[in-house]
Amino acid sequence: MRTTPAVREFTDDPLPDEVLYEILDDARFAPNGGNRQGWHVIVVRDRATKHRIAELYELGMREYAAYLRAGLVPFAASEASEGSGKSSRPAVDLEAARTIPSPGGFPDYMVDAPVLLVVTLDLTKVAAVDTGLGRLPLAAGASVYPFAHNILLAARARGFGGHFTTVLSRQEHELRTLLAIPDEQVLATMLPLGKPARSVKRLRRLAVEEFATLETAGGPRLTRPEASR
Ligand SMILES: Cc1cc2nc3c(=O)[nH]c(=O)nc-3n(C[C@H](O)[C@H](O)[C@H](O)COP(=O)(O)O)c2cc1C
Repeated sequence: MRTTPAVREFTDDPLPDEVLYEILDDARFAPNGGNRQGWHVIVVRDRATKHRIAELYELGMREYAAYLRAGLVPFAASEASEGSGKSSRPAVDLEAARTIPSPGGFPDYMVDAPVLLVVTLDLTKVAAVDTGLGRLPLAAGASVYPFAHNILLAARARGFGGHFTTVLSRQEHELRTLLAIPDEQVLATMLPLGKPARSVKRLRRLAVEEFATLETAGGPRLTRPEASR
């Protein structure tokens, strides 16, 4: 966990099916609601398909960048119309944003990555127990993201790496047609995987004291006990 960064640069090394199979063979032991295992993985190696996915991803990135330019949290979940009852009009002009290339440029590394894993979730199999609460439902995602993270951890254990993406969801409709994804399945994430071009960097995260409190949300902070210092 401390040495599994988001990897966005890959060497030319292949990621053979034997290794990929082992990665998924470990990842499948992820926890998930009711153990209904609603995930599906589409293994994309075809270069033309990877290129189209990278194009769709970059379109999503353009929209994401528009929020950043406006000084906003991109697609802030608190603003999502599904949950808040607020206007569904986005805070930025997404149509205009799509004409401005994203700051990172075209993600060539996705086309060159040995494999793109498109992870979908079958909504008929998962429970969204936090629906009807007047906010964005979150729980259904918990039935697929532990699995997706397991993929990154299992890849790391074998000398490979990759990263989560979610902005591709902006183009889910196009992706559905491209990969013949059935209606009941939705895109959870797309993971480019390959051999990392750089050695692991030190990951920067908040200290435990910054996010854990005792007994109530505003309670005293959990600190490292003296004995374990
Ligand atoms: C839900 C989620 C969505 C993400 N979406 C993207 C994405 O669309 N593109 C991308 O390059 N990285 C994406 N990431 C990777 C994050 O940028 C990365 O996990 C975070 O910056 C920490 O990076 P580090 O582990 O290298 O420190 C996503 C991560 C998560 C968990």
